[in-house]
Amino acid sequence: MFAAGCGASRLAAASSFPMKDRTGPSMLQEAEAIETRALEEIGRADDPSDLEDIRIRYMGKNGDLTRILRSVGKAAPEDRPRIGQRVNQAKQAIGEALEARRAACETGRESASGTLDVTLPGRRPPLGSKHPLTLIREEVSEIFRDMGFSVVDGPEVEWDYYNFEALNIPRDHPARDTQDTFYLGSDIVLRTHTSPVQVRVMEQQQPPVRVIVPGRTYRNENPDATHAFTFHQCEGLYVDKGVTMAQLKGDMTYFAQRLFGGKVKVRFLPDFFPFTEPSVQYDFSCVACGGGGCRICKNTGWLEISGAGMVDPAVFGFVDYDPELYTGYAFGMGLDRLAMFKYGIESIHMFLENDLRLLERP
Ligand code: DAH
Repeated sequence: MFAAGCGASRLAAASSFPMKDRTGPSMLQEAEAIETRALEEIGRADDPSDLEDIRIRYMGKNGDLTRILRSVGKAAPEDRPRIGQRVNQAKQAIGEALEARRAACETGRESASGTLDVTLPGRRPPLGSKHPLTLIREEVSEIFRDMGFSVVDGPEVEWDYYNFEALNIPRDHPARDTQDTFYLGSDIVLRTHTSPVQVRVMEQQQPPVRVIVPGRTYRNENPDATHAFTFHQCEGLYVDKGVTMAQLKGDMTYFAQRLFGGKVKVRFLPDFFPFTEPSVQYDFSCVACGGGGCRICKNTGWLEISGAGMVDPAVFGFVDYDPELYTGYAFGMGLDRLAMFKYGIESIHMFLENDLRLLERP
């Protein structure tokens, strides 16, 4: 009945200590030696009943440690507290070792004895998964990469110059009011959009330029289901000789159909942005109802995505591009919105709440 290596004979050999000569120092030594011996035995035992024997022998009613405690009155009064403490310390160490060894024996036995019920469902280790915003950023980036765009990055703490000035939005321009800006200083903001990276890229490189800029943006918005103080955009910029609005529409349609399926249509509505001329608002036909009208598209059949247009020659002026030679299109898109449409997520705040159930969604 004893498992190999845990024989009764070995246990029997662990006899009680002699309890004569009860002076304080010798009782302390005894307690120490008992603890050492007990721990050794526990380490060798691999059967719960052996462990129980060990417990009784050292800590039971007539166990060795119990007997030391009982005879502590025979020691000098000044030695007694130390002896009591040492015995209790030994008991605790032995108790913990017994518990740990018992747990190890149980696990070992479960599988070795074949009592493991293999029909029980396995214990699935919790698996990590990608955040929907990571997924959408990766997918959007892949589509644009296939179209010849590079993916670039820019700072989230941005100069007023890049966030506004060089995008043709001077200090007192009314367009600043629409952006609910967090100012960190008179000249420094948390970027309100990814558009400033357009300027940074054009400062660094001559046309042809074909980049997208996925990244985090900030606005002091009143939060609701579709607005949060931080969100994500993806900027796009294509500058070369002879770039046209028709290309913008064609490229955007290709993108929409890769992301949401071949039936999606794109429409342009007139709009205004200081850094594009002409400017448009662009919409995708509703990816939930196909354009017939539903709750998601508020029965319009269309989902507003963001703004786009032809780069305003004034912006080229800030980066020394010759507007007579080059034209370009630019667009923004809200990555949170795209992820909400793509994955059926109801509120933008779910992206920030760190509720693991969001990540477990198929
Ligand atoms: N930056 C704009 C916003 O956050 C979106 C936008 C509009 C970006 C037109 C563009 C553009 O590049 O051409 O509202």
